[in-house]
This record gives sequence, C-alpha cells and structure tokens, in this order.
Amino acid sequence: MIARTLPQVAPLDRGGGIPLYHQIQRQLMEQIRSGAFPRSEALPPVQEIAARYGVSLMTARQAVRSLCDLGMAYSRQGKGTFIANTKLEKNFRRVMSFTEEMKTRGTTAQSRVLSFRIRSATGEVRKALQLRAGEKVFRLHRVRCGDGVPLGVECSCLPVRVCPDLLRDYDVTSSLYRTLEMHGVFLMTASEVVEVGRASAENAKLLRIAPRSPVFLFTRISFLEDGKPAEFVRSTYRGDRYKIVNRLTRLRSDGAAGAT
Ligand code: GLP
Repeated sequence: MIARTLPQVAPLDRGGGIPLYHQIQRQLMEQIRSGAFPRSEALPPVQEIAARYGVSLMTARQAVRSLCDLGMAYSRQGKGTFIANTKLEKNFRRVMSFTEEMKTRGTTAQSRVLSFRIRSATGEVRKALQLRAGEKVFRLHRVRCGDGVPLGVECSCLPVRVCPDLLRDYDVTSSLYRTLEMHGVFLMTASEVVEVGRASAENAKLLRIAPRSPVFLFTRISFLEDGKPAEFVRSTYRGDRYKIVNRLTRLRSDGAAGAT
C-alpha cells in the first residue's frame, strides 16, 4: 500500500519546552481527525516525517509510537504504520473522569444532560453507597460525547451529604469530578465491573447506533480518600468505539515485578 505524503507541516516550537515528538504527534492526530489520512491507510514513513519536520529519525519514531500507544495507529511488521479505525482505550489503571479521558486523546468532551435532580435511592444504589435509611442522592443522567460524537450514556448517583450544594453549583455541561474537587471531594479509588450487552432502544437512539448493537456496560463505585463510597455509576459505552486494554505485570517466581 502506498503511504500518503504529509499534507501540511506547521513549524515546531523548538524553545518552548514541549517535546518535539509530542508536537509532531499532535499535528498527526489533527490530520487524522481532519480526514487528511483516511482510516486504514498507511502513515508516511518515519524517514519522511523526520525530513519534513527537520527532526531525527528517533524523534519521528517516538511520535509514531505514541500515536500507536493512544490506539490511533498500529504497526504491521514490514508493512508500515496504519491509521486505526479508532477505538478509544479504556484506561483501568487510573480513576479518570470522562473529561480527562477525552483530553488525553486531544478530544473535547461534551455532555448532553438528560436529567439532574435529587431522588430517593433505589435498593441497589442504597447498598452500593451504604446509605442511611431515607438518605437522598443526586442522580445525573448524561450522554457523553467526544468531539460531538455520542460515545456513552452515564447515570451517576452521589449521596447528597457528600456535596450538598452540588445542585446549585454544578454547571451540568462541565466535569462532575472537577466540580467535586472544587468542593474538596476527591474520588481516589474505584471498583469497576465491565460486562457486554446490547443497547436498549432508548440508549441506541441516544448513541445514534442500531438498537441491540453490542455495548460495554460499566458499573463503577468510586470511593473517597477515607474509603467511603461516594459515587455509583452505570454506563453504556459503544462497542464500536471502545476497546478494553489491560496492561499486565507478571510477578517472577522470586516475587519481583517485571518492567511495565
Ligand atoms: C467517567 C466515569 C464516571 C464518572 C465520569 C465523570 O466517565 N466512568 O463514573 O462519573 O467519568 O466525568 P466528568 O468529570 O467528565 O463529568
């Protein structure tokens, strides 16, 4: 397959402290997103990238490798590097907000809020959040989008006592986690279960996919620094846009951890 040549190359900022490979990676990402490189086509060879940007082969390779790490490209031995039909990677090593996840990919997160109100908790939520009898929760139901594309539907429940002013202070179009942090509420750990399922008619419509399309179903309970549960979330994410990637470490038989 013949690789395209680089359409445009903006000058790199060589004194600003941002690594050159990172600047190149950002430009390549922009070009992939803008459709300058159609999906499944080969990226220009690293020699061309290095020459056009005036950087070493090592820097060009690092830029391409970081695109692969983000799941935007993949290498085939002896054939080159190809643009992936991008599936977003779900990172299971950090408690990340949707906004943060999108940001790490250079994508803008948006939310379409379906409802945000104080409600009585269902039995499942009461149990997960260890609520006292009669305790109320905030229930936030949103469609989460990246660059305008609906990717998931999330329904989050948080005990009102954790952040009593949330209804008043939270701008529902912004990051929930960021607002909680501004109120001194830090969700530090989470346990998350992933299952596969099929989109309900309602979620399929919200996600603009065919009813019964394969989806990932996430159930997350997030905990505060003191270990108390403070968020119960059920999410439905598009199976055609996400993949689950685990990074594993093997313990050697003598107990030492391998390099990650
Ligand atoms: C992710 C998590 C949710 C969490 C949300 C907060 O999507 N799966 O459990 O509620 O992030 O996102 P944000 O801070 O962007 O509103």
